[in-house]
Amino acid sequence: KARLYSGMQPSADSLQIGNYIGALMQWRDLQDSYDAFFSVVDLHAITVAQDPKILAEKTRRTAAQYIAAGIKPAKSTLYVQSHVSAHAELAWILSTITGFGEAGRMTQFKDKSQRYGADSTSVGLFTYPVLMAADILLYQANVVPVGDDQKQHVELTRDLAERFNSRFGEAFTVPNAMIQQDTARIYDLQNPTSKMSKSAETDAGVLWLLDEPSKTAKKIMRAVTDNDGVVKYDREEKPGVSNLMVIYAAMTGRQIPAIEDEFAGRGYGDFKKAVAEAVVNEFGPVRENVLELLDDPAELDRVLARNADKAEEVATKTLTDVYDKVGLLRRA
Ligand code: TYM
Repeated sequence: KARLYSGMQPSADSLQIGNYIGALMQWRDLQDSYDAFFSVVDLHAITVAQDPKILAEKTRRTAAQYIAAGIKPAKSTLYVQSHVSAHAELAWILSTITGFGEAGRMTQFKDKSQRYGADSTSVGLFTYPVLMAADILLYQANVVPVGDDQKQHVELTRDLAERFNSRFGEAFTVPNAMIQQDTARIYDLQNPTSKMSKSAETDAGVLWLLDEPSKTAKKIMRAVTDNDGVVKYDREEKPGVSNLMVIYAAMTGRQIPAIEDEFAGRGYGDFKKAVAEAVVNEFGPVRENVLELLDDPAELDRVLARNADKAEEVATKTLTDVYDKVGLLRRA
């Protein structure tokens, strides 16, 4: 079986629907056909300030959301990034073959550093894509299913793998990003031309997986649309309606033209009600599962520990080979 690797940051109490549609739903479907590794990337999360008192809980909650959404921890290797020290170690090695300018061209870094300002931007945020490359390359992943915003980071990963292989000898599989074009970018409900994000400024435009169903429905009913009242897909002219259509399509498995037919001659009120119902139906059981899993944190932690052992075995093999190839003296 080919290897698959992906991860998410535990940067909020809950995942948002972009994470769910753009990543988690694909992971769930792909895990049977691949030897899959899924991490909760806590070392990535601390590249922006996190409250130390709640980070561990957020990490556990993120893992619970993977499982509740259908990732099977007995089959896929679901673990916490910081539990496997090879991630940080390989990131260091890779940082020595990454160009300063090359890292500076990452658009996500440019956006975030602009938002936070130079003084609150850490070097860790700058080297974040190198750590992501380490995640992927340690496991010799063939494919990396992600949303559109991570594409550039996977391209950097490919460049670093090729560079290392040609400079020091074959150590890494060169991975491919796997991006589901129609769902690669879910937009903020209040601001449907910008990406929905866990770090959005206002809560009203973000659909959280663990929100109360009534809150989710309310946010959808209040989503920004337009004035012409026609349920039709048009990214340029009707970004709000188009975004809701993509969400509805993902939740129901229906195609866009079929949705246009379904709501022909009906208003946005009807349409939004249907979207709200579909999302609530999908999220409800996941939310209940999460709450149940969190009832027994010790068991959850044991599952994560077992999987970290599995991950570590693979990662250590790659790291040892890399240390040898770079020429570091082996400890006797
Ligand atoms: P993160 O935590 O920001 O997001 C997790 C996944 O969700 C996708 N995503 C979206 N997809 C569609 N629409 C949206 N609005 C949306 N928002 C987020 C992201 O593309 C991602 O797939 N650096 C990564 C985590 C990471 C990783 C890795 C991923 C670390 N190491 C190795 C893959 C492989 C990140 O911050 O994702």
